Amino acid sequence: MKSLAADLRVLTHLLRGAHGEKSSAEALDKFYAPQAEFYDNFRERLLQGREDMIGQVPISSGGFWLDLGAGTGFNLGFSKAEARACRRIVLLDLCRSLLEVAENRIRTEAWDNVETICESVLRYAPDEPADLITLSYSLTMMPNWREVLELAYSWLKPGGTIGIVDFYISPAFALRGFVQHPWITRLFWKKWFSWDGVHLNERHLPYLEWRFKRTYLVEARARVPYLPLGKVPYYIFVGRKLV
Ligand SMILES: C[S@@+](CC[C@H](N)C(=O)[O-])C[C@H]1O[C@@H](n2cnc3c(N)ncnc32)[C@H](O)[C@@H]1O
Repeated sequence: MKSLAADLRVLTHLLRGAHGEKSSAEALDKFYAPQAEFYDNFRERLLQGREDMIGQVPISSGGFWLDLGAGTGFNLGFSKAEARACRRIVLLDLCRSLLEVAENRIRTEAWDNVETICESVLRYAPDEPADLITLSYSLTMMPNWREVLELAYSWLKPGGTIGIVDFYISPAFALRGFVQHPWITRLFWKKWFSWDGVHLNERHLPYLEWRFKRTYLVEARARVPYLPLGKVPYYIFVGRKLV
């Protein structure tokens, strides 16, 4: 009953929508603050593939891991032992209320190698090159996605790894070897998610393929809580910056 009430609160905010604009700190807080407490529980069912992606990226003990659009820092829990041994982890997000949940997690779990930064990816510059950069379900919320990927590329060490998991749609004519979504899938999910400021894009995956040397790729579909019909497409991409 308690979790149903929490779900209803989250759903109310999702249905209210972000009216296409969710990229400013103020707009993000307006959207996320009322659901921050319940965020992890609901998104655990909605945001599939995060554990798989984190399991595929190298988290080295001497390394620097940058999680862009890190939200509540949920990704830390998927590879706890490796993350704890990692030299430095930065959780970057523009939304104060979600980072507060991350900060509680950091305190509760006594992570002394994790810091949070409340800033836009577009206004941030790391003070050292990164070994690993991850984005889980955040690229679709960043309007300047190509600039974000170019920044991530420039921040990585040669040979460094990028890991991304996100919703997407295929191009109208997908290249051989890639999943082709029917037009109804491409139209429906793009429209559905844009209400909440999440912009599914057919160019994200081809761009990642072009920019990085792919080491892992999954194209799959996930159920959406309380939506019995249809499954939303998502991908997992892991790639390396060539030396
Ligand atoms: C759907 S949430 C995903 C959060 C987290 N990565 C996860 O897997 O639970 C997308 C996140 O991207 C953040 N975000 C959106 N635009 C951003 C920007 N320009 N700079 C930094 N973070 C941003 C939002 O505040 C939000 O926390």
